[in-house]
Amino acid sequence: MDPLRIGVIGTGNIGTAHARSLAREISGAEVAWVYDADPARSTQLADELGANVAPNVEQLIASSDAVVIASPDDRHAEQALLCLDAQRPVLCEKPLAPTVADAQAVVDAEVDLGLRLISVGFMRRFDPGYAALKESLPGIGHALIVHNVHRNEAAPYGLATSMTMTNMAIHEFDINRWLLDDDYATVQVVAGRPGPRTPEGQLDPVLVLLITRGGVIVEIEAFINAAYGYEVRCEVVGSDGTVEMGDGAFLTRRSGRAIGHDVPALWLGRFADAYRRQLQAWVDATQRGRTSGATAWDGLLATITANAAVTAVTAGPQAIETPEVPALYR
Ligand SMILES: NC(=O)c1ccc[n+]([C@@H]2O[C@H](COP(=O)([O-])OP(=O)(O)OC[C@H]3O[C@@H](n4cnc5c(N)ncnc54)[C@H](O)[C@@H]3O)[C@@H](O)[C@H]2O)c1
Repeated sequence: MDPLRIGVIGTGNIGTAHARSLAREISGAEVAWVYDADPARSTQLADELGANVAPNVEQLIASSDAVVIASPDDRHAEQALLCLDAQRPVLCEKPLAPTVADAQAVVDAEVDLGLRLISVGFMRRFDPGYAALKESLPGIGHALIVHNVHRNEAAPYGLATSMTMTNMAIHEFDINRWLLDDDYATVQVVAGRPGPRTPEGQLDPVLVLLITRGGVIVEIEAFINAAYGYEVRCEVVGSDGTVEMGDGAFLTRRSGRAIGHDVPALWLGRFADAYRRQLQAWVDATQRGRTSGATAWDGLLATITANAAVTAVTAGPQAIETPEVPALYR
């Protein structure tokens, strides 16, 4: 089978990482086109990978077999809609959209088309740690509580408190739904005093507390300015025991009367394997005319949850209303 000619929209941190991985590690694909609003960035990456620079998004989509969207959050929906118009398979970085209206528009367009073309980049679904955690859940009886920790070294792109939900904790909103096979019923948010590095007006750290429809408590600590590095943890408390996800294959060091291991600076260090597996699964699925991982529907539900959490910051506990699942996603 000929390799898929992939177009990558947005060649910043993650777009560059995806393009390099597609070009060097993933079978069945080549990076044919790149586009970035900053031409210097796309030209540099195109030169490195032997790809072409597209003059605009429309031309990139028309010339590619499949598209990776790695532009800023608020551009995802309009670019995904262009891909649907041209019937191109898409791996769209999270979030599908920061607003419910934009995420809903993408789902509506896909439903109208009657064809699932969009996979959303919730790569934790491909992480061996989360996969092992999900597999182990039947062994601990009924899940009762999930404790999640999500810490960044410092705020990327001056993250506002709303982006804590729509950009950061949205990973937890998706992965806990996936782990538990359950939707959320309510959400509330608690913020304490800010740390010394917290930008003016930002609430950080925050605790997000969700209850699923099945009655499981999902607790998330989202801490953007944690200073010491990037860390993600997850522990499920069940009726017969608990299971906690390890933090990857980091080396344990013993020296100077201390035992410890390095902490990655960024998500790329912790989830490199998940990103790679996600891309390979997407290319393989696209070759078979299918999507992989999270669907546009999953993307919409994560955005609905994130926006309910944003409202909960100022307005207190919120009910999470989930629309009926369209037949396309059942
Ligand atoms: N799945 C993950 O774990 C993960 C990790 C990092 C980032 N992301 C997501 O990927 C996206 C990009 O994040 P990033 O960290 O790479 O940001 P970034 O700022 O490093 O890169 C974004 C790039 O998009 C370009 N751009 C701006 N407007 C554009 C447009 N209209 N069309 C095309 N390109 C445009 C910018 O010039 C920049 O090069 C975000 O939506 C973010 O949420 C996901």
